[in-house]
Amino acid sequence: MSSLDRTDHSSAPEQRLPVVVVGAGAMGKEWLKMLAASPHAVTVGLVDLDLELAASAITSLGLEGVAVGDSVVEVAQRTGAAAVINVTVPQAHRVVNEQALRAGLPVLCEKPLAPTVAEALRQVALANVTGGLLMVSQSRRYFNHLAAFRDVVGELGPLASVNAQFFHEDHEPGFREEMAHPLLVDGSIHHFDVLRYLTGDEPVAVRCSTWNPPWSWFAGDASASAEFELTSGARFVYSGSRCTRGLQTSWNAEWRVYAERGAAAWDGNQLLRVDAEGVGFDVPKRREEIDGSLEDFVTSLRAGTTPQNEVRANVGSLAMVEGAVRSSALKGERVDLGSLLEESLTQAITDETNDDVARELRSWTSATDGINTPAWGSAPATNASGGAR
Ligand SMILES: NC(=O)c1ccc[n+]([C@@H]2O[C@H](COP(=O)([O-])OP(=O)(O)OC[C@H]3O[C@@H](n4cnc5c(N)ncnc54)[C@H](O)[C@@H]3O)[C@@H](O)[C@H]2O)c1
Repeated sequence: MSSLDRTDHSSAPEQRLPVVVVGAGAMGKEWLKMLAASPHAVTVGLVDLDLELAASAITSLGLEGVAVGDSVVEVAQRTGAAAVINVTVPQAHRVVNEQALRAGLPVLCEKPLAPTVAEALRQVALANVTGGLLMVSQSRRYFNHLAAFRDVVGELGPLASVNAQFFHEDHEPGFREEMAHPLLVDGSIHHFDVLRYLTGDEPVAVRCSTWNPPWSWFAGDASASAEFELTSGARFVYSGSRCTRGLQTSWNAEWRVYAERGAAAWDGNQLLRVDAEGVGFDVPKRREEIDGSLEDFVTSLRAGTTPQNEVRANVGSLAMVEGAVRSSALKGERVDLGSLLEESLTQAITDETNDDVARELRSWTSATDGINTPAWGSAPATNASGGAR
């Protein structure tokens, strides 16, 4: 028995949500391992375009009774699955999410939801059209020391600046080493999303520059420096690299917050420092990382409530990434994130090939209107048993 408090949310073994995992790569295996011990969900199927890879993942992890296939809909039907966990490469996320949602299956999708904001908006519209839950697993929101840090930041009053540094040596051959912006698109999405979680403040504009150190093993830019203007007027100052050979930070980055009542810092691990009179903290004991996002997904699905990073809430984090990439291409020019969102809606309407989704996108008066359409779970639940609505 773990030291975690399971009294609130755990399900009896027979009530665990049966799920199909799509994607048997490195991260798919992490999900399978976590699910094998989860009180919330159980893997009943594994899908990958590479059937041999899927079969060998099942064998190497010693899993039993897990069906394998290359079609999410077929495997879900065969196994009676009630939800899908999408751990494919980012380029495949939208297609897999669409197949699942149209089959009535809610989806928990790995970050980044999509390569572009336009593609993310198409998925907001898809969620509206199908009425299903689509949540993005931004697993770095689920750290107990981050939750305590967030409580502290909430006590500090108006913010002046938030600083985050992420310096890591990261060898993960595959799509990351080939993409144009491995740091911003694949790594910083976590830190940008944490900024929004930590402060509740929304970025409105960004200036960014990116580059690739001479020794980098990445094809694209592995280093970046960005400054975001937040709605409050405060600034988020971010720097990072994925090919750092010394003084590495946590995967969660190192954070400092300066505000009217004082300052606080988090090393991304277990060290939280507060320099503000009368501000203390308690560290909660909850499930962390993908275990935490799974709990959020399953409990929200069952209760009919809106989880963190329900698809429309995640668009703001993706807009930070795309804004930073655009600014970098414009040699550090200021990119307005509101304009980026609206241009992305025009692009989404142009790209969308399904009539129902295109109609939904065209019905929005703006992208902001679209991401403010009522989220799954914001209306009273009609099916608390966990099925798609
Ligand atoms: N939360 C985290 O900290 C974290 C860490 C690592 C990876 N990730 C994310 O997890 C996802 C997967 O990363 P990975 O490292 O496992 O990648 P990977 O390349 O190792 O594995 C991806 C798998 O998806 C399969 N696939 C691709 N398209 C498919 C489709 N249409 N249908 C079925 N299968 C398909 C591929 O065959 C491959 O086996 C990415 O979105 C990545 O950003 C998240």
